[in-house]
Amino acid sequence: MNANAIKVAVVTGGGHGIGRALCRRLAADGVSVVVADIEGDAAKTVATEIGGVAKQLDVSDEKAIIELVKTIEADVGPIDLFISNAGVGFGDGESGAISTEGGMNPIDERWTVSWNVNVMAQVYAARAVVPRMLERGRGYIINVASAAGLLSQIGDSAYSATKHASVGFTEALAIDYGDAGIKVSVVCPQAVATRLIGMEDDSGATEGGFNGNEIDGIMQAEDVANIIIDQALEGRFMILTHPQVTTYMQRKTGNYDRWVGGMRKLRRSLAGKD
Ligand SMILES: NC(=O)c1ccc[n+]([C@@H]2O[C@H](COP(=O)([O-])OP(=O)(O)OC[C@H]3O[C@@H](n4cnc5c(N)ncnc54)[C@H](O)[C@@H]3O)[C@@H](O)[C@H]2O)c1
Repeated sequence: MNANAIKVAVVTGGGHGIGRALCRRLAADGVSVVVADIEGDAAKTVATEIGGVAKQLDVSDEKAIIELVKTIEADVGPIDLFISNAGVGFGDGESGAISTEGGMNPIDERWTVSWNVNVMAQVYAARAVVPRMLERGRGYIINVASAAGLLSQIGDSAYSATKHASVGFTEALAIDYGDAGIKVSVVCPQAVATRLIGMEDDSGATEGGFNGNEIDGIMQAEDVANIIIDQALEGRFMILTHPQVTTYMQRKTGNYDRWVGGMRKLRRSLAGKD
């Protein structure tokens, strides 16, 4: 990505957490940022702070995404960068991140919302914006998935499955449209101090997420956003904000069965059974 080529960017889920930090970083780089969030007030607060544009929408509503892209391209300018960052995670059971009662999340509503927000919203955004980017012969899509989309999120089967789907969809985008000038990246972080893992924005805390069950410590949203944009500028498809994820991936692909055994052991120890 050429930093000068990005004039207009949309960030979904820009009202809080990683999305908000991405909005701040892009604005500091001189980009006109559209802060899109289901929480209209949060989007407005961030947009006011950075001199951007706020849009309230539910990313899992395809009509709303189409309207967003149409309006922004007419009123602000061609979208050079679309970051599908909005995401949700509920945990398999009432205990949140670590479910000792087993996986499979029995609550259908959680599966539906996870699919729609973590996967279909990224599909809708790409369907709305890629044809316009193809006409211009350039454009950039960044989808925020998770390390749970490469490894697994113990205690959240819906999050793990949908984040794997996000990685798979984004790989397909990169393969299908790379030759036509569309840049594509997927972001796979481990724990970040945000509301998603039960922490407050700006808490600055480095432990206590996932009900105290985070594994390798917690990064701050600002640091993560800077790494995301820096690795995007380097032209990477796979953006890994937490270096240990590379090692875990190597171990997993090197010996899948051993990796599953290791994850079972980790689950037992997190559940206090080891
Ligand atoms: N925090 C972590 O540890 C972590 C780790 C890996 C990946 N991620 C991913 O990073 C992304 C950002 O999450 P975060 O950690 O900043 O969480 P967050 O909860 O702080 O932010 C998510 C934002 O998305 C918005 N949002 C949720 N549903 C929406 C919808 N239907 N339409 C529009 N906006 C919606 C929320 O209002 C919120 O502003 C997510 O995709 C998440 O899965 C987070």
